[in-house]
Amino acid sequence: MRPHVVAHLAVSIDGATTGFETDQARFYAMATLWQEDVTLVGADTILAQESAVRVAERPGPRAAGPLLAVVDSRHRVRSLEILRELGYWSDVIALYADQTPAREPDSKIQELVTGYDRVDLVEALELLGRRGAQVVRVDSGGALVGVLLELGLIDEVSLLVHPVVVGSAARWHGSFADRLDLRLANSETFEGGIVWLRYCTA
Ligand SMILES: NC(=O)c1ccc[n+]([C@@H]2O[C@H](COP(=O)([O-])OP(=O)(O)OC[C@H]3O[C@@H](n4cnc5c(N)ncnc54)[C@H](OP(=O)(O)O)[C@@H]3O)[C@@H](O)[C@H]2O)c1
Repeated sequence: MRPHVVAHLAVSIDGATTGFETDQARFYAMATLWQEDVTLVGADTILAQESAVRVAERPGPRAAGPLLAVVDSRHRVRSLEILRELGYWSDVIALYADQTPAREPDSKIQELVTGYDRVDLVEALELLGRRGAQVVRVDSGGALVGVLLELGLIDEVSLLVHPVVVGSAARWHGSFADRLDLRLANSETFEGGIVWLRYCTA
């Protein structure tokens, strides 16, 4: 069965995911709310943090943590073994496609191969569900969220809205340009004018 999929993003009031300072502590504290089984991350989100990841402390995998699943059909991410050691996740799985470039022969990273030239996100989520995942939290800047929205795969949208207008930056819904009616599940105001909006898509 397909897991419950929640996209949790820090955004500006004009919907940008970058170009402003986010309240990271609050963002990640709130992310624990879902107790996800899988953290689904876009390759570009990992690449944006790669230099910090390489110098971060490595306490080792956290047995009780979620599985980190990275969508990476072009095999651009080379830091998966380090990510597994950061103490947030229990393990890491790379989501690849048939046409993904060859991996290092000594790679110890588990893989899930779906789709031909891009990861088939419908099938990948289905397979993660069959492995026992009930809740997936998407951590991406918008591109991956947009594709998941287009495929009707997002059940919940959680926006931590920061009081700033950024102008021209990528939006949290990526390429998704259809109408989507949402039902407000909860809202809360925090200091600094930050507002949390939690919506269900169905
Ligand atoms: N504000 C926030 O809450 C927040 C959260 C996370 C990250 N960020 C920021 O956002 C930026 C990165 O985000 P981003 O939106 O550029 O990229 P992203 O969502 O992290 O990465 C794009 C992902 O979408 C996949 N993808 C795109 N089209 C696809 C398709 N048709 N089928 C399957 N997969 C598809 C790509 O896969 P392939 O690589 O396989 O093509 C890639 O894994 C960074 O600057 C990061 O710091 C902000």
